[in-house]
Amino acid sequence: MQHLTGAAALAGVVGWPVAHSRSPRLHGHWIARHNIDGAYVPLAVAPENLATALDGLRACGFRGCNLTVPHKEAALALCDELHPSAARAGAVNTIVFGPRTGARMMGMNTDGAGFLASLMAAHGPTHGPALLLGAGGAARAIAAALLDAGQAVTVTNRAPARAAALADALPGLRTILWPHAGAALADHALLVNTTSLGMQGQPPLELGLHAAAPTLIVADIVYAPLVTPLLAAAAARGLRTLGGIGMLLHQAVPGFAAWYGVTPTVDEALERAVLG
Ligand code: ATR
Repeated sequence: MQHLTGAAALAGVVGWPVAHSRSPRLHGHWIARHNIDGAYVPLAVAPENLATALDGLRACGFRGCNLTVPHKEAALALCDELHPSAARAGAVNTIVFGPRTGARMMGMNTDGAGFLASLMAAHGPTHGPALLLGAGGAARAIAAALLDAGQAVTVTNRAPARAAALADALPGLRTILWPHAGAALADHALLVNTTSLGMQGQPPLELGLHAAAPTLIVADIVYAPLVTPLLAAAAARGLRTLGGIGMLLHQAVPGFAAWYGVTPTVDEALERAVLG
């Protein structure tokens, strides 16, 4: 732990609960690496206290914060200004306060861009339609980023009404029924699991990959375990894979750059620090 001066730059992650968050390790690694006079702290804030807490952070001169479950959607209405990424994702995961006390609160969403950056870093530019499994908050952020990058996107969800609601929010999005996902792989270049299936303590995702083209990239946003049963099955078929840890690391870059004035890099040392 380095010493702070009275001018230290402060940021943190607001969640309920927040003890599980990897963000303090992530930003702490970059703060130490760049020898920054600053700190990034976990902030346990109950849902009914979110507005008060954000005003308090602003009044305390915080540079900004990340938001995690369950605050991402609620924060939309509390920001003075929304970056298009937040409006499109329907959720805020990063807040930047203006430079003065009482300054404007700008909300953005870096989850979708984080996914794209992770995909780019692992596999270079990719083309062709994407098939997203799940229609929750993570699916919306990733679908919006893919659509905005000019990719065709199909979404499927166990509860079809939720996929339909996502298509209403994001014009251009195509939906298919959950039981048709396996066969639809033949028409897609990228598969992304945004559901919690395959996460530690959850059942695995049951999806046959036999219809997949050999060029299909199989991505999972689950990162515990690092290799989900879906990724293991894809690798066994010789398909390219992308684990969820890269998205977690890359989504943090824009917030860190805005709060601390340094654009950090994502590398293996960061991954070790976050997972260790
Ligand atoms: P997040 O905001 O992280 O995306 P979420 O909003 O809770 O999380 O969404 C979880 C996703 O996982 C949903 O798409 C959910 O499907 P339903 O809308 O049908 O509930 C999906 N999911 C969770 N458990 C599932 C299961 N056993 N089978 C299929 N999908 C599941």
